[in-house]
Amino acid sequence: MLGIIGAMDEEVQLVRSEMTITDEATHAGVLVTCGTFKGVDIALAQSGIGKVNATICTQMMIDRYQPTALIFSGVAGGLLPNMQTGDMIIASHVIQYDMDLTAFGRRHGEMPGRDRLTECDPVLVEKATRAFDLAFEGVDDAPNLMLGTVASGDRFVQDTQTLRWLQREFAALATEMEGAAFGYTCTLNDLPFVVIQSLSDTAGESASGDFTDNLHRVCQHSYQVLEHLIPLANESTGPKQGRRASDQPSDTG
Ligand code: ADE
Repeated sequence: MLGIIGAMDEEVQLVRSEMTITDEATHAGVLVTCGTFKGVDIALAQSGIGKVNATICTQMMIDRYQPTALIFSGVAGGLLPNMQTGDMIIASHVIQYDMDLTAFGRRHGEMPGRDRLTECDPVLVEKATRAFDLAFEGVDDAPNLMLGTVASGDRFVQDTQTLRWLQREFAALATEMEGAAFGYTCTLNDLPFVVIQSLSDTAGESASGDFTDNLHRVCQHSYQVLEHLIPLANESTGPKQGRRASDQPSDTG
């Protein structure tokens, strides 16, 4: 079983409309739809916006549905000057940019005892790039694909100063509000995950208007990648897949 999470209605509806639904339930205020998508068992959830909602949703999905891998699909604001709305990002890493312990001499985004960046599962990242190629190869107006860091925080960014800071401080390609919380939760549960995003805006002064205008259109791009990624991700992704840290045999017996 794969866990698929999106923050907003638009981000989950396209998958839901193509599922054979077997069950629906609400847990911790999150609607979860279970069933099959192209023959693959999935649990699909709409987390709501922001890092707290993403964390609650992800942990609930892991505890109740025992997914072997998780995919977060959403929209983001692009941070580089030449980016276009509709372009796609596959996160190699995610970071909570608003984790701020600089008062204790730490770097922005850094937490004691943890890596500053959370790495997405390399096998799923590779499968997501393959899914992108399958979706868009030979298509005339295909979006661009970029792999790199996605910076998450509880703020809709629409100013040049913040977007430059995110780009320079974290070498981030895009910003959104859930991916790092989702990824961090998957990592603590020792489960493979990947985050895919399409750009609804470029996080500058017109971002909120661009977001509203583009949301529906760019969600189609994420869906086109998901259509191919879900069957690919369902194939075994190595020894970590389907096992929790607590399931590992202990050395001491
Ligand atoms: N999601 C999409 N665009 C965003 C932006 N500009 N800031 C935060 N989250 C976003």
